[in-house]
Amino acid sequence: MTDGALSVEDSFDKHIFILLGPPGAGKGTVASRLVPLMEAEHLSTGDLLRSAALDRESSLGRQVASLMSRGELVPDQTMTSILGHALRRLSAEKILLDGFPRTTVQARMLEEELAGINGRVGAAMLLEVGDQTLVERISGRLVCGTCDKVYHKVTLPPSQQGICDQCGSDLKRRSDDEPATIRNRLALYREKTAPLIDWYESRGQLVRVDGEGVVEQIVARAWQALRSDKSFAGPGGANG
Ligand code: AP5
Repeated sequence: MTDGALSVEDSFDKHIFILLGPPGAGKGTVASRLVPLMEAEHLSTGDLLRSAALDRESSLGRQVASLMSRGELVPDQTMTSILGHALRRLSAEKILLDGFPRTTVQARMLEEELAGINGRVGAAMLLEVGDQTLVERISGRLVCGTCDKVYHKVTLPPSQQGICDQCGSDLKRRSDDEPATIRNRLALYREKTAPLIDWYESRGQLVRVDGEGVVEQIVARAWQALRSDKSFAGPGGANG
């Protein structure tokens, strides 16, 4: 184990696990099914920002809405401040972060934030998915405008076309899933976020998960990889 990684001897109030992967890799889909197994809470910065963007009366809401609609990243300082508030509100000991960090600056800021709340990053799980699969997943994505549940027209359809199974509201395409915006999001992922793969790998914290196949298979692989990791103490885990 290298210096950055969590070990069984350590005791922290917050154990942070990270899901890394390009837009459309299935991070949100996997996270929602993995957190009950991990006995963790799911914290998605995309979901946090979509809620913030609804408040057009505030300058933060307007700024976030404008950046997201163009597929740009929210500035590191703003994002870390939003995340810090959210982390402090969560009571769970284990948290699965989806969408953060997205830059090495954010990764460093996360460590500083965690130092203040006796927290530590355990593992960063990378969902590895080919470009063709990303295109197929993003182009068929539908989301509920009320409860944010995510579907896919072909692979994960709702029981009734266009209607959310969970709350009965209408399903729609995400506004940032238009082709030009997606190209920008993918380019930014490669430029700003992909360097985090080496960053976490060099610290002995990276766990690679094959993200191709059906959802249940991927969740089973992710769960197997996580609970075999030395950083994971909990139900069925290496330290549990
Ligand atoms: P965010 O919401 O985090 O978007 P993203 O990272 O681009 O990821 P996506 O939500 O597009 O995809 P996903 O990997 O979660 O895939 P999903 O599970 O939906 O961020 C949005 C924006 O917010 C950013 O562009 C940026 O502006 C801003 N932002 C967020 N965090 C930020 C940060 N830290 N700093 C700065 N800015 C930030 O799956 C995709 C589709 O595939 C779905 O339809 C799903 O049903 C389907 N699917 C999933 N898995 C499978 C499978 N195995 N088989 C078949 N279909 C599947």
